[in-house]
Amino acid sequence: MATVMNEMGVQGKRYSALAAFYHWLSAILITAQLWTGYMFHKVLERGSEARGEMMAWHKTLGVLILLVVLLRLGQRLMKPAPEFPSDHPAWEQSLAKWGHRALYAFMLIVPLTGYIGVSGRGPEVELLGGITIPAIPGFDKDSAHEIGEFHVILVYAFVALLIVHVFAALRHHGDRPSSARGRMWPSRP
Ligand code: HEM
Ligand code: HEM
Repeated sequence: MATVMNEMGVQGKRYSALAAFYHWLSAILITAQLWTGYMFHKVLERGSEARGEMMAWHKTLGVLILLVVLLRLGQRLMKPAPEFPSDHPAWEQSLAKWGHRALYAFMLIVPLTGYIGVSGRGPEVELLGGITIPAIPGFDKDSAHEIGEFHVILVYAFVALLIVHVFAALRHHGDRPSSARGRMWPSRP
């Protein structure tokens, strides 16, 4: 596993190229997904063709994200993350560990609740390109709708955590020398 060395000479281990690939792929897809969700749900007119199309994009991209996240989690469970740099205090390491776990939990539960949200309208869910996937069974129109509302609440909590995550990551790139710098970049910065 490649290492990164900070200005103080402390060595830290880096994430693998595949882990970095999955991280940046999911980050791009999720950012695009926040935009499609915001557009179809908040901006485009109810009943308009544009809203229907944007919602089809939202469902399709969301299911794709769920698949990418499952692959990513599989890879992560087979190849554990590099240890946190030893020059970071224990509380910071534990905060990072639980923060990352929470991000993974959101990455699963947000698309799942979205999927359930559209599962009360029949046995199948229509995606773009004429693709249909089975609806998640056990939900009628009302219960699916309630979970859909919960999906939106979860999205806001997810965005709040993502903002904290990005600031925490960028902190390692500021003036303070940090051995955590560059651990998720595909090549040495
Ligand atoms: C939707 C957006 C994002 C999601 C869902 C996400 C999720 C995650 C997760 C789950 C980890 C832990 C990886 C593991 O241990 O397996 C991680 C690590 C990391 N992320 Fe993100 N991330 C996102 C965006 C970003 C952005 C925009 C940046 C940069 C500004 C960033 C920088 C990092 C860095 C540097 C690490 C490694 C932290 C370390 O050194 O331990 N992430 N991210
Ligand atoms: C990581 C994946 C996902 C993200 C980040 C996401 C994000 C969003 C956002 C930002 C909104 C609008 C929130 C607002 O109005 O303020 C939304 C609404 C919605 N999303 Fe998602 N979504 C994801 C996955 C999915 C999936 C997989 C589906 C369905 C297959 C889905 C179905 C819906 C539905 C039905 C709504 C409207 C809910 C309602 O009317 O109460 N989403 N989502």
